[in-house]
Amino acid sequence: MRVLVTGGAGYVGSFTVRRLLAAGHDVVVVDNLSTGRREAIQGCRLHIVDIRDIESMGPVFEEFRPEAVIHFAALKSSEESLRDISTYFDVNVTGTQNVLALCARTEAERFVFSSSCAVYGTPQICPVDETAPVRPESPYGETKYLCERMIASYAQATGMRYANLRYFNAAGAADDASLGEYAGPAATQLLPVAVRATLGLAPTLRIFGDDYPTRDGTALRDYIHVEDLAQAHVRVLEGLQELHQCGPVNLGRGHSVSVRELIDTLRHVSGKDTPVATAARRPGDPGLSWADPGLALSRFGWRAELDLDRIVRTAWNWHTSVPASLE
Ligand SMILES: NC(=O)c1ccc[n+]([C@@H]2O[C@H](COP(=O)([O-])OP(=O)(O)OC[C@H]3O[C@@H](n4cnc5c(N)ncnc54)[C@H](O)[C@@H]3O)[C@@H](O)[C@H]2O)c1
Repeated sequence: MRVLVTGGAGYVGSFTVRRLLAAGHDVVVVDNLSTGRREAIQGCRLHIVDIRDIESMGPVFEEFRPEAVIHFAALKSSEESLRDISTYFDVNVTGTQNVLALCARTEAERFVFSSSCAVYGTPQICPVDETAPVRPESPYGETKYLCERMIASYAQATGMRYANLRYFNAAGAADDASLGEYAGPAATQLLPVAVRATLGLAPTLRIFGDDYPTRDGTALRDYIHVEDLAQAHVRVLEGLQELHQCGPVNLGRGHSVSVRELIDTLRHVSGKDTPVATAARRPGDPGLSWADPGLALSRFGWRAELDLDRIVRTAWNWHTSVPASLE
């Protein structure tokens, strides 16, 4: 299949591109390299284009005529979105609208979207399934939900098959440390930030909130190995052959892990203590969120295979063996 991947030079995108190529698909990447890395893309063409610039993106679609589009390109920090709401709407919503307009123009048949558990905000019941009410607590989560609805409208109008994949927390790296997450000083994801603190590259790891109603007071999340996530994209893309439109699908492991449990696992893997300091809860940061991933299994035969130890071990190996990952 000819698959155009936006944001393919980023963390989840680059693992997915690698899997798509291994499965024999013909892949083209569109990315402005704002957080992505050129070196993460090997074996396919990379067009350095901003998804907000429809004039520059148009010729890429016209020339490649994708049969499918996987749309990763976005800004992804809930906290940052509270500070810079207009850029988040511009990149995430206007950018997605541009991608959809070009899909319609070039008659792409399938569309897979990187949505997020942020659309649920703080779920009333965990594990949370796709029937739960949508209540984003940040502009970031709001942009993801708006995109889901735009995609559904386009699909209804054009007959395009689609899936809105609501990821929980992607983490981990390749077993051989050939690919991973680039996490400089501006990183906000817990695991890379914890690794930085453990290596002395940051003074402390700040735990935002230790007074949540959880087993140790810290926030509960569902960490999913990026390799599992990448595999899910290939499975869903191919599975859309049979399924016409499938709406939202959770991608998580279905296990809750607290901030302190993640730090304990890192200590076990690295043999080092992580310096920590507690801080106030952050706005837009739910206290608990973990997935019921049953729909992904029943619809696409997909379930996450890799456990927390593997997630933390591969992340530690990647960051310690590829110093550029921490720049
Ligand atoms: N990582 C997670 O835990 C997680 C969880 C839920 C949802 N998501 C979603 O998954 C997607 C990928 O996340 P990621 O962790 O790989 O992030 P990432 O920042 O590593 O990747 C995003 C990619 O999009 C590119 N990009 C950003 N703005 C662009 C623009 N205007 N034009 C073209 N390219 C642009 C970046 O350069 C980067 O390569 C995002 O949509 C994110 O919201 C991620």
